[in-house]
Order: sequence, then C-alpha cells, then structure tokens
Amino acid sequence: MAERLQEQYATDRNLRSRISLHDAYSVNGHWFDWLFDREAPGPGARILDLGCGPATLWLVNRERVDASWSLTLADLSAGMIEAARHELGDRATYVVADAQELPFPAASFDIVIANHMLYHVPDRPRAFAELRRVLVPGGAFHASTNGRGHLAELAALIPGQNEWSYVEAFGLETGPQQLEPFFAEIRVERFDDALAVTEVEPVLAYIRSTSRYRGEDLTSARKTVEAAIARDGAFHVTKSQGVISCRRPQPGTGDGAATIRV
Ligand SMILES: C[S@@+](CC[C@H](N)C(=O)[O-])C[C@H]1O[C@@H](n2cnc3c(N)ncnc32)[C@H](O)[C@@H]1O
Repeated sequence: MAERLQEQYATDRNLRSRISLHDAYSVNGHWFDWLFDREAPGPGARILDLGCGPATLWLVNRERVDASWSLTLADLSAGMIEAARHELGDRATYVVADAQELPFPAASFDIVIANHMLYHVPDRPRAFAELRRVLVPGGAFHASTNGRGHLAELAALIPGQNEWSYVEAFGLETGPQQLEPFFAEIRVERFDDALAVTEVEPVLAYIRSTSRYRGEDLTSARKTVEAAIARDGAFHVTKSQGVISCRRPQPGTGDGAATIRV
C-alpha cells in the first residue's frame, strides 16, 4: 500500500469520522442497509468481504446476518482487521490480504464483496483476475463505489482541488468497462441521496480525515459553510454512490456481457 494510503487506513479512525458525517446528515436513510439488500446472498453462502474496513456493513445489519453464512473478512490493513475482529468476534474468519494476491484456493467463495476499495488497488486487472479465480462459476461479485460529482461541494472547499480522483480510477462510470474482460451480467445500481449539513465542524473534520488533505488553511472553507447554513439552513452536498454487480461466467458462456445501468 502506498505510504499515504497505509497511514490513512492504519486504524479505523479516519474512516469512522467520514462515515459519521454520512450517518448524521444524509437525507435518505442508511447506505449500508441499502447495500446489504443488494449484496446479501442466499442461505449457506461462503462470502468474502475484501477491503472490509471495520466491518461496518455487517455491524449495521447485524440482525440480518444469516447464521448459515460462512463469512471471511479480508483487508490489507492489520489495524482494520483488528477493528473488525473486535466488533464481530468469532462470527467471521479474518485475514490480512492484498486484493492483488489472494491467499485462497480457486472457487472457494459463492460471493465476493469489495465495497469502496477497488480505486485504491494499484493493479486492478490483477485483482479482478484474483477475484474471479476465488469465485465459483456463476458466483456473484459486488463492488460499491462513488460516481462523478460525489461530494463535489466538499471537494471544492479544499483550495486547488475540485474532484476526487478515485472516481476516475474505479467509479460507477469507469468501473464497468474495467470489469467486462473478467465478469458477465454487469449491472450498475445507484443510491439516491444527498447531505444537508447543519453544523460547520463535522464538515471540517471530514476534510481533515481525507488522504487528500495536506494541512491547508480551512478558514475560507469555514466561512463558505457558515454562509450556506445561514442562507439556506444547511450546507447541501451532492452524493453519487452505488454498486456494480456482476458474475463469474459459467464455463463455455464467454467472458463479457452487456452492461445494464439502472
Ligand atoms: C474506504 S475503505 C472501505 C471499507 C469498507 N469496505 C466500507 O465500505 O466501509 C477501503 C478499505 O480498503 C482497504 N484496502 C486498500 N487497498 C487494499 C488492497 N490492495 N487489498 C485489500 N484491502 C485494501 C483499506 O485498508 C480500507 O480498509
């Protein structure tokens, strides 16, 4: 992991700070509930959650985790794996692993999930080949990510930067064509949401928690947010998030297939 990324995800602190802004000020329910509805498999499934972070998907949906599932949580960061283990205990198996070189036998999972992590992986084709290898033929792969314009108003608060580069690396618009050589039945579903933030400090804390923040002076950002709250009652922020789902092709059915966007 590049040094900056390693520092960013050494523990779950930065990620939790960002998730708390979404929890407190999102206008449309909870992202992780919506995601769970799309990613949850049938009974008895062997599940790999790659780049699991502190296991938020499973914690938020704790009551809905089927007792028959075999759950493996993997992440490149040992700190994240510790945080996940602390929360879920013996309900899952935990592995420190790199998406580009997975320590699992071929066809060992019925479903693989990679939420908001593929844009961090330097050699994505290598990771896709690995994800496909560890899935059974016909097995489902789900990758949540952001789309263009996600948090644009927040990004614009940092001087000299107005777009989050990861959206071009692997986003809702740029991910499907990268997956086409490896997976079939590619489908994109979008989650309709936005932020209406009524306090200044959580916005500044979010900016400080990101890996793109390099200690810039946030005085002008503070004034912009204060003015928006005074004028409109809230600082309104665009969200563009969703999930790309696909399948490992069955033998003899070819690799790629048409992409469906919802
Ligand atoms: C933005 S967090 C997402 C966490 C969680 N999936 C979620 O949606 O809340 C990205 C996670 O990917 C992990 N990660 C980054 N590069 C990775 C790689 N090459 N292999 C496995 N995990 C990686 C990071 O350590 C971090 O926990």
